[in-house]
Amino acid sequence: MKSDNQLDLLFDSSLIPSIIQEQLGPDLHLRPLASDDNTRGHFDVLSVLTVAPQLSAKAYKDKFDELKACAGTYFIIVIVNVSTDKIVGSGSLIVERKFLRSAGLVGHIEDIAVSKAVQGKKLGLRIINALEEIGAARGCYKIILDCSDKNIPFYEKCGFKHKEYQMVRYM
Ligand code: ACO
Repeated sequence: MKSDNQLDLLFDSSLIPSIIQEQLGPDLHLRPLASDDNTRGHFDVLSVLTVAPQLSAKAYKDKFDELKACAGTYFIIVIVNVSTDKIVGSGSLIVERKFLRSAGLVGHIEDIAVSKAVQGKKLGLRIINALEEIGAARGCYKIILDCSDKNIPFYEKCGFKHKEYQMVRYM
């Protein structure tokens, strides 16, 4: 497995909370998304969320570069199984810059995914905790997310509470 400094990472790995890495133990590694994580099963993990067709290597790298160019906005993290070098969990924090709240920042949590084989082992909780810590370090005054009814108990266990409703219009 390559070390973090051998990879092209989406953001500075010093933002990853060391306490959460310690909680995960030595067999799992938490880090920012890397530009070649398509080769480590990123789409296999995302497929627990919805149909997740693979992008070509070029399209994946182009998307990665596009997100990385938006400095301070996209914080996608992955948990990697150290022995297989495969991704087993992933989650995103997107930082929105507002005029409101004295030009405050709001964190949006998206695409939390844990491989079926390792669900129920607190990886989801660790991903949420890590994204919250990153959001706090970036100065977000709140973090929000949308989820289905069946995931409400999970997010409540993570310390979130229900507020308002989601609306959607597909184009
Ligand atoms: N119902 C009730 N409790 C739950 C559920 C559930 N569906 N899922 C987890 N929990 C509880 C666990 O029992 C645990 O409680 P405990 O601390 O009392 O033991 C706590 O929540 C933490 O659970 P984790 O082990 O961290 O959960 P896991 O690693 O399995 O991750 C996740 C949860 C992310 C929902 C995972 O099951 C998954 O990937 N599901 C499919 C994809 C998905 O639905 N993702 C969320 C989409 S919403 C969004 O992305 C904003």
